[in-house]
Amino acid sequence: MKEITLQIKFTEYEATAQLPEKDNILIMKARDAAKNAYAPYSGFRVGAAVLLGNGKIVTGNNQENAAYPSGLCAERTAMFYASAQYPNVPIIAIAVSTLNHSATPSDIAKPCGACRQVMAEYEDLAGKPIRILLDSTNKIFALNGIDSLLPLRFKKEDVK
Ligand code: THU
Repeated sequence: MKEITLQIKFTEYEATAQLPEKDNILIMKARDAAKNAYAPYSGFRVGAAVLLGNGKIVTGNNQENAAYPSGLCAERTAMFYASAQYPNVPIIAIAVSTLNHSATPSDIAKPCGACRQVMAEYEDLAGKPIRILLDSTNKIFALNGIDSLLPLRFKKEDVK
């Protein structure tokens, strides 16, 4: 028997100004996208912006439904749209922002498990770590690769 520890790694920035320009643009797009979320049930608006290998930026936001499970998170809305419009174009980076009930930026955006699994799929397809930017009012977390968000994950090689 042995105990195994997995480490995750990310960088915390105190302000968007500390980030590279490309990251900043993506964060601003995610913040903008959050404003258009359809979230009448939770009041929690989330926006996501995806940078693709062809330079395009695709955005999405959460889409809720009276039948609750029929809704979809911002991250998957953006990633699925990106893959639907630009099949086989790798995802380079994704930024996620949230707005709380009073329409002010919320605490660090933390993607749900299902969205992490979907990011993992596209990272495996791209063959390169996706840059993940988790936004909030007063800090930003930057992660290079899904392993820091979803360690010990299920992969397509596991389907045998
Ligand atoms: N939500 C997202 O869009 N992304 C996340 O990372 C977490 C949660 C949405 C789902 C639902 O519409 C609302 O936020 C409250 O859970």
